[in-house]
Amino acid sequence: MKKLLSTLSLATLLAVTCVVNATPQQDLKEFQSFYMKRFPNTPFEDFANGVYSIDPASRGQWEDIEEFAPYELNISVGETMFNTPFANGKTYASCFKNGGIGIRQNYPFFDTDRGEVITLELAINECREANGEKPLKWKKGPIADISAYMAYTSRGKVFDVKIPDDPRALAAYERGKKHFYQKRGQLNMACADCHKFYSGNMVRADLLSPALGHLTHFPVYRSKWGGLGTTHRRYDGCNKQVRAKPFPAQGEEYRALEYFHTYMSNGLAVNGPGARK
Ligand code: HEC
Repeated sequence: MKKLLSTLSLATLLAVTCVVNATPQQDLKEFQSFYMKRFPNTPFEDFANGVYSIDPASRGQWEDIEEFAPYELNISVGETMFNTPFANGKTYASCFKNGGIGIRQNYPFFDTDRGEVITLELAINECREANGEKPLKWKKGPIADISAYMAYTSRGKVFDVKIPDDPRALAAYERGKKHFYQKRGQLNMACADCHKFYSGNMVRADLLSPALGHLTHFPVYRSKWGGLGTTHRRYDGCNKQVRAKPFPAQGEEYRALEYFHTYMSNGLAVNGPGARK
């Protein structure tokens, strides 16, 4: 018995050590297969549809909404802004690869020159500032419209977030991972509690979505907001739900979280912007 126990604790110890030392590739495999096992009726590609991938009851209604999408106007406002020259005559296209078209799937990325995670919204504001314009507010409004247009031009492209061989990139990834698994707030709950271990269960009136596929459709139009919001606006909402103090939008913490969180959905296609409750 004693031997069995020590073998068991050794096995646990090994398992724990493996989790701690897992590479991003190993994490990705574990993460995605967790959801494939938990929701065997959902084909991999369909996780891009968020909670509707596991909720046949509300799926039809959602598909009707997407047909006459509430974010259509945002896309065209975003397109106009995107193509309107700054005071210096240049446009957003000058700041991005491929003129900013069809590139959503590569964000966020780790910039090895600067040593930090660059999200799409950060790049949009940096483009403005580099061209002598004032930065936009981070969480809603024009920045969400531009981001929506850029996502729209990337629909169908597969997320391919990379963790380059650079200890700083790995550190940012690990920071995001830690945020995802760490319990926080008065309710002492982690992102992973609601969106991994309890995904598919109800919390009050909501079915908890799988975190796999969470970020394929951002920015998102939410009926609750009556408008469009960025990923970091949504992060705020979820941190407030557990009565934790949210972090600043586009600060290092949320950028690291977005890096990890998007990497976990590698292989799924961009379908942003999206509509949710
Ligand atoms: C107490 C449970 C709970 C916790 C903890 C929680 N969330 Fe949520 N989250 C929800 C609910 C409820 C929704 C709305 C229904 C859904 O899509 O799951 C939601 C929605 C989301 C969405 C939008 C999904 C979509 O398809 O648009 C994202 C992204 C998200 N959460 C990320 C996070 C992150 C990151 C954390 C940790 C910082 C977190 N959540 C913590 C309950 C939670």
